[in-house]
Amino acid sequence: MTRIVVVGSINMDLVTQAPRFVGPGETILGERFLTVPGGKGANQAVAAARLGAEVALVGALGDDAFGQQLRAGLAAEGVNLEHVARLAESASGTASITVAGGENQIIVVPGANARVTPAHVEAARSLIEPADAVLVQMEIPLDTVEATVRLGHRLGVPVTLNPAPAQKLPNDWLRLACYVTPNQHELAILLGADPAEDFQTLMQRTPCPVVLTRGSEGAWYREHGEPLHQPGFRVDVVDSTGAGDTFNAALAAFLHEGLPLAVRKACAAAALSVTKLGAQGGMPDLRELDAFLAQQR
Ligand code: RIB
Repeated sequence: MTRIVVVGSINMDLVTQAPRFVGPGETILGERFLTVPGGKGANQAVAAARLGAEVALVGALGDDAFGQQLRAGLAAEGVNLEHVARLAESASGTASITVAGGENQIIVVPGANARVTPAHVEAARSLIEPADAVLVQMEIPLDTVEATVRLGHRLGVPVTLNPAPAQKLPNDWLRLACYVTPNQHELAILLGADPAEDFQTLMQRTPCPVVLTRGSEGAWYREHGEPLHQPGFRVDVVDSTGAGDTFNAALAAFLHEGLPLAVRKACAAAALSVTKLGAQGGMPDLRELDAFLAQQR
């Protein structure tokens, strides 16, 4: 069983489905409201667990009702929560999400996620040391992301850095990551480059291997120096929230099968994830993923 440690955020997603996005000062009627578990770290943990990995999460929740619900949900998915702190005087993270026409707009209020420190990562060293992979995203403080990448590198455990939401990152620790997994927009921000620049050129300028996600167009990566493209899978999109998280989790869960197959499975899992409402709603389990892939030519 692949052992994965995820270091990242846990949010309650407050999701409104609407006919379209609103403009400033405008009020419209929405169609549906849902309160569902989310947060990039928690999403990646759940997606990897559904795909059969043994998963532990390092993060923090507030000492509030959302915190209790989120903890119970993660435990029910089989995620090890030994290193998820309960922080008094902090609210749990929230994300206010509008979904319209399969696209989303998101405002995250980090709450307890802003108090996940390098010390929390160091405290999980005994979990990280024997792990097959570490996943980290950027909804927690940057020094904690850096500490995760550095510790993984020191212990010889491959770290996948999902640079979302994107910020420009220093090359000296970016090069310690095993993979970085931005979309095109995030890649430009990561490098401080012009977003209009050709993504293949940007990929070559990145100091560590890149697996670039392009939504319905699939993913680009390099194998033995050659640029390779995994086309996306055609599905009916209900909600794209969490697609990137599902991609990252599947990539880590199947990396031992080789990069091309892992990227193919990651694209398929991400495609399935967008067919239902809510970040974790459509994340497939292993059986669903295998059945979907068997239907493809
Ligand atoms: O990647 C999707 C996630 O981003 C949502 O679940 C939301 O919580 C935000 O963190």
